[in-house]
Amino acid sequence: ADIPVICIDGPTASGKGTLAAAVAQRLGYHVLDSGALYRVVGLAAERAGLPTDEAALAAPALAQRLGALAERLPVRFADGRIWLAGDDVTDAVRSEAAGMAASRVSAVPAVRAGLLALQRGFRRLPGLVADGRDMGTVVFPDAPLKVFLTASAATRARRRYEQLISRGETASIDGLLADLEARDARDRSRAAAPLKPAEDALALDNSEQTIEQSVDTVLTWWQRSR
Ligand code: C5P
Repeated sequence: ADIPVICIDGPTASGKGTLAAAVAQRLGYHVLDSGALYRVVGLAAERAGLPTDEAALAAPALAQRLGALAERLPVRFADGRIWLAGDDVTDAVRSEAAGMAASRVSAVPAVRAGLLALQRGFRRLPGLVADGRDMGTVVFPDAPLKVFLTASAATRARRRYEQLISRGETASIDGLLADLEARDARDRSRAAAPLKPAEDALALDNSEQTIEQSVDTVLTWWQRSR
């Protein structure tokens, strides 16, 4: 537990992934994109022919199977790509549909428990920057720096829109806004590890900030926390 870890939690499309990657690069640390793990579980479920709609997820037998699947998830991160059992699923997990499926399976306690050891395994020297919803509250409660990153819903929808368009996908701002509000509402209201700031988290609203400004803020907090 002496291995340093910085947690960056916050709602959908608040810029956590970009900030985490930039901070990790400046410090030479590892990164954990925990959302990608939930996305891969959603995809793995689909490939195994398991349903992930909310009605089906209420069945304890399915929840248990998904938990087992999460616990032995054959996922690998290498060179900026994500692999599921040897298949490059980087693009597949980034889709809006995969994000919605991730949000549904992530409410299943057995899935969250199944991913715990895998996530903690990313904490290796010289250090880790972890982003998600419950990094500071559940996965790394002893982290010396926890950031709760927010941005207005309009800003987040616009960023997500630009991201998808730059990847050649089609999207509508209104549709994305509705999606991210639905996802946030589910993430905040679920019983298992709901999205909320850790008691000792520092809040950062980056609606009006450049990525460089946010990185500098986090690095300053990091220096102070040590
Ligand atoms: O961050 P990202 O959008 O990739 O996460 C996808 C979904 O996975 C989120 O909407 C959330 O429901 C879930 N998630 C979670 N806990 C985390 C990271 C993501 O429940 N630590």
